[in-house]
Amino acid sequence: MLARLFCWTIASAMAAASPAMAEDGYDLWLRHAKAEGSMPQAIARHATAIMAPGNSATALAARDELVRSLTKIGGVVPALTDAPQEGAIWLATLASAGNLPVKLDGLGQEGYVIRSLTRNGRAMTLIAANSDIGLLYGTYAWLRLAETGASLDRLDVRSAPRVKLRLLNHWDNLDGTVERGYAGQSIWDWWRLPDWKGPRYTDYARANASIGINGTVLNNVNAKSDSLTAPYIAKAAALADVFRPYGIKIYLSVKWTAPMELSGLKTADPMDPQVAAWWKAKANEIYKAIPDFGGFLVKANSEGQPGPQDYKRSHADGANMLAAAVKPHGGIVMWRAFVYAHDNPDDRAKQAYSDFKPLDGQFADNVLVQVKNGAIDFQPREPFHPLFGAMPKTPLMMEFQITKEYLGQSTHLTYLGPLFEETLDADTYAKGKGSTVAKVIDGSLEGHRLTGIAGVANIGVDRDWSGSIFNQADWYAFGRLAWNPDLSAEAIAREWAAQTFSPDPKVVDPVVTMMMGSREAAVDYMTPLGLAHLMGTGHHYGPAPWIADLARPEWNPVYYHKADMRGIGFDRTKTGSNAVAQYAPPVAKMFADPKTTPERDLLWFHHVAWDAKLKSGETLWNSLVHHYDEGVAYVANMQKTWERLRPAVDVERFNQTKAFLGIQYREAKWWRDASLAYFQSIANRPLPSGSLPPEHDLNWYKAQNFPYAPGHP
Ligand code: GCU
Repeated sequence: MLARLFCWTIASAMAAASPAMAEDGYDLWLRHAKAEGSMPQAIARHATAIMAPGNSATALAARDELVRSLTKIGGVVPALTDAPQEGAIWLATLASAGNLPVKLDGLGQEGYVIRSLTRNGRAMTLIAANSDIGLLYGTYAWLRLAETGASLDRLDVRSAPRVKLRLLNHWDNLDGTVERGYAGQSIWDWWRLPDWKGPRYTDYARANASIGINGTVLNNVNAKSDSLTAPYIAKAAALADVFRPYGIKIYLSVKWTAPMELSGLKTADPMDPQVAAWWKAKANEIYKAIPDFGGFLVKANSEGQPGPQDYKRSHADGANMLAAAVKPHGGIVMWRAFVYAHDNPDDRAKQAYSDFKPLDGQFADNVLVQVKNGAIDFQPREPFHPLFGAMPKTPLMMEFQITKEYLGQSTHLTYLGPLFEETLDADTYAKGKGSTVAKVIDGSLEGHRLTGIAGVANIGVDRDWSGSIFNQADWYAFGRLAWNPDLSAEAIAREWAAQTFSPDPKVVDPVVTMMMGSREAAVDYMTPLGLAHLMGTGHHYGPAPWIADLARPEWNPVYYHKADMRGIGFDRTKTGSNAVAQYAPPVAKMFADPKTTPERDLLWFHHVAWDAKLKSGETLWNSLVHHYDEGVAYVANMQKTWERLRPAVDVERFNQTKAFLGIQYREAKWWRDASLAYFQSIANRPLPSGSLPPEHDLNWYKAQNFPYAPGHP
């Protein structure tokens, strides 16, 4: 044993001594930069040695992570010890330590305790948990505290995840492309799997474990049946083997008609015994290769995907049939509620609720219904989805989009923490005041134990993983909020900035200020005051509010803004689609009246006259123009702030961000000018004084064409 430890320590020391890599973003928030000022001594004092008796792959991963990071932070390889030592970190489970001086009740398998204590007269830091994965999470939490400058003297932290399934959803295709991906090709090298398991998979697992993500759906919801064939199951199993020590289970998206496509069945009717038997056999085959396989994610009867409704069966019939197949193995089914039908003339925002609400109580107990944060589609801002709070008997899983399909794709700096937070904090009033979406998701509102939250990943093979340094913050924020939906987006931004750049407040403060207003700025320069879905067709890149000629009404931006000579906005009150009635009465009442509707959601729910006076006393038209102006001005301010940070940030990451802010400024202005050129052609009103006219005429904007915009299948 000692010999093994010795070799391992030498290897770590050598790795640490190799030339420093360029700051290209690869290390994410796990850079473990050499600490400055008094920090290295403070950290070193609390990490003189590591006492870590466990030897499972997970326990070793925790210990390795400590050694790797402490070596980088302080330049010294911490010793490994078997006995209490002053300043040591002690990683312990009941199983490895025999008994522990702390109580671990209520922490479950994933929670942890971090406690400063004295052992045999020596001051130490105990990281304790019921399982090794809890230890790994506790280790990352300690590092986070250390690297964000927290005092390590008297730690007393208890933490357990509020949500059980904390998953990334990859929209990755088997050919290596990524739907709505803006960070290069897929990180899954399907072609060379299962033989070649590159180091990136381990780094992916480390990054996810560091923020508590415990599952990943490997393939696109627009799934191909091939992912369920034996060769692809073997490839998925190879990834599962890499991820297992980091507490990450894998899941697969499935295509409803797989039994027909792969085995020639005549039907995919969920009530057909042969179909059910096929899925059972398929589940058995998968679990044989991947004993801890998580389960299936399904997009059915949505945007052209087949599903049970093709056989006059309900979503519940479909979900339950799959649920029965995975149940004996402890698996689950995540059934998506993102549905709208080409032959349904009703308001698209109403359709998921209409389809799913009547099914409440009909789903098997290992099914979660996965609901996007808003009722349309990941817009820069949407009111919370009316299904939250409306299906008390069904665990509802949140689906956020981390990749920024509608928020500037890879280049715009639009920190999504505030968007996630706004949705989680929204009050559904389902059981009176305080029935927040967060309580629906963490199961506390209705007492569900099976709970989940998913984020559509923004990860690709770019060196920086996410297409930009600042996009990494969205991945980070998703994981942190999935662990604890009550964390504040600002506190998360502070943690992220401290680890990503420097804990120096002179860096953290301006970076966080930039981040915190950035999503609102994107709302302002793209879709202010409750507007939505004005993006270019298909690729969703850039403004195209004039589009009116696509086959399905709800594919056209004009369907969403409904601008006419009188005013603009979608009437979702009783005089319109009455979507407001899908919310609990106090919320419905608030949204039904333009005077009580928060201004940020105004045009989502109301068609408002151009000259109507808003709370500020301005007319709607003038206010709209001012929002567009403010959005552009915010980006210009971010450019200035970033320039001031030049001395504090390494060249590579500084330059990338500077270039991307330049793109963002140009595109924010383009959004503003194109939108105003178009809306002015309808509103026929002058721009308020001080607002500059669009740079080009409307036809110029209409003529822009982007056949090769990324992320579009
Ligand atoms: C959006 C997105 C699609 C995706 C779909 C989904 O519509 O543009 O690419 O397939 O959402 O969530 O299923």
